[in-house]
Amino acid sequence: MCGIFGYVGHQEDAADIVFEGLKRLEYRGYDSWGIAVKKPGTGSKNTFAIRKRTGKIGNAKVSDLPKSSFGLGHTRWATHGGVTKINAHPHTDCTGSIVLIHNGIIENYEKLKKNLIAHGHRFVSETDSEVAVHLIEELNKTCSFTEAVRKAFLKLEGLNAIIVMHPRAHTFVGVRNGSPLVVGLGKGGNYLASDAAALLPHTKKVYFLEDNDLVVADAENVQIIEVKTGKRKKIKPRTLTWSIKQAEKGKYPHFMIKEIHEQPSILSEIASSGLSNAKKLSKHIDQAFDTYMVGCGTASYACIAGSYLFSKIANRHINWAVGSEFGYQLDFLTPKSLVMALSQSGETIDTLEAVKKAKGKGAKIFALVNTLGSSLYREADYSMLIGAGPEKAVASTKAFTGKLAHLVLLAYALAGKPKSGQSTLLKAAKASKTVLTPESRARIKKLAERMKNKEHIYVIGRGLSYPASLETALKIKEISYIHAEGFAAGELKHGVIALVEKGTPCIAFLPNDETYGANLAGAMEMKARGGSIIGISHKPHEVFDFYIPVADAQEATIIPNVIVGQVLAYYLAIARDLDPDMPRNLAKSVTVK
Ligand code: AGP
Repeated sequence: MCGIFGYVGHQEDAADIVFEGLKRLEYRGYDSWGIAVKKPGTGSKNTFAIRKRTGKIGNAKVSDLPKSSFGLGHTRWATHGGVTKINAHPHTDCTGSIVLIHNGIIENYEKLKKNLIAHGHRFVSETDSEVAVHLIEELNKTCSFTEAVRKAFLKLEGLNAIIVMHPRAHTFVGVRNGSPLVVGLGKGGNYLASDAAALLPHTKKVYFLEDNDLVVADAENVQIIEVKTGKRKKIKPRTLTWSIKQAEKGKYPHFMIKEIHEQPSILSEIASSGLSNAKKLSKHIDQAFDTYMVGCGTASYACIAGSYLFSKIANRHINWAVGSEFGYQLDFLTPKSLVMALSQSGETIDTLEAVKKAKGKGAKIFALVNTLGSSLYREADYSMLIGAGPEKAVASTKAFTGKLAHLVLLAYALAGKPKSGQSTLLKAAKASKTVLTPESRARIKKLAERMKNKEHIYVIGRGLSYPASLETALKIKEISYIHAEGFAAGELKHGVIALVEKGTPCIAFLPNDETYGANLAGAMEMKARGGSIIGISHKPHEVFDFYIPVADAQEATIIPNVIVGQVLAYYLAIARDLDPDMPRNLAKSVTVK
């Protein structure tokens, strides 16, 4: 959701540093942005130059902002109050000398605001965020600034992160509870960001704030204080393993297509390096009395796929639920239960909350995440990295197939056949590479051209192709804005077939498995009602109006199949003149409920 980037150091180009930082966070999704830098020559009192804009950063420039070594920026994804310049962050107190940015939702803001207005504070925006800066101003009348931030934060209800620029020193004071915040420990300067990938051009040495950590950072020092007690805490910095190159588009026009193309090599890498972790973790699954998988959106489809993989390969029943619903059905969890949480960002609030509730019941938590140091990574009893590298396109691609790859290895390890997992995965990597050859992409592009003006697209599959259908439909919806629905083919006759009419595109996954015959029957039923059948299969069939070949990779065929869906969604977005990397209304990591 909202992006945060701050710099305090000895370089005089804070505005540019912060601006570039915000551009690296654009992928998170936002609708307005703002930057504040301390004006030069203002002595012991800080006065700030603030620039706020609605819309995307685009070709904006900040070169007219004053030279400064202390700056803070924010990309806002609106929750409270419309998308306006006034509602954009940073916000200031009544005197304009305290500058604040906020990520999260202050649930008790109305009550706090009423109180502050009664004390004479003047509000200019409709946001919940502005409450925090006035509260700090009020508390700072009777205690030090850091103490005022600490006390103010304790009064905020909800999951929040705030960063405040000190009114009299080149110092940031930041706090988090729920919303992510990471400190970059640089040479001759320090950084604060909502996302570690944004720090890569400056430093790889980072500290991920834990919930209720308060950070005080100037150009030289970084101190962490426990918000509840006010006591200092020792910090253990980590080193980021991602490279700047991995977080850039390179030769590709969009992050999404770059990330799609990275998949074959990520899959091969997981096949070789993921085996020992899979063996270790499968022991925990084996020992658990009951196992659940939880995730949101695309990650939840990986959970569904996992439930089929564990059943098929390891004879093991695993329940799954979407993060936002899991909390309503975990009464039966016990300390013998294992909850596997799947997430690219490791910050998805619905997944995190589900995990915290499960922990409250004593269950053990396993996290499969892509982001080192993320909240979920730290919350879990056992954590495993997906190893897909930074994923910047809002629509998740490589993190999804990366999750599937680990689940294939885990299921085979649980079945006592880890090597078979490895060879199956290598077949999937090879088949995925073939899907991404120029000829294959050209074919899928041609299909996108034919489909670009359709209003509805239906996707069917059975077994492992059911989550493949859900994921393909989600990708199409997210970035092309065409209504697409994925469903279990067996459900066709239970209602959905009523929607099929002449020319309705119907995508059918027909891999070389036990679902082939029954799913083909579904495709025929759609064809009989005028549907135009797009067959994704290892072999052509006369019922197909359009055929996309995908080589058989046994249980891992879902991976290349889904890649076809990703490429199709990408070309649909391009054909409709849309930016696939930044779909409307969506954010990369969903940190509010
Ligand atoms: C995927 O394309 C989506 N943008 C979304 O469904 C995403 O997968 C979901 O929000 C979960 O994110 P996570 O993997 O970071 O937890």
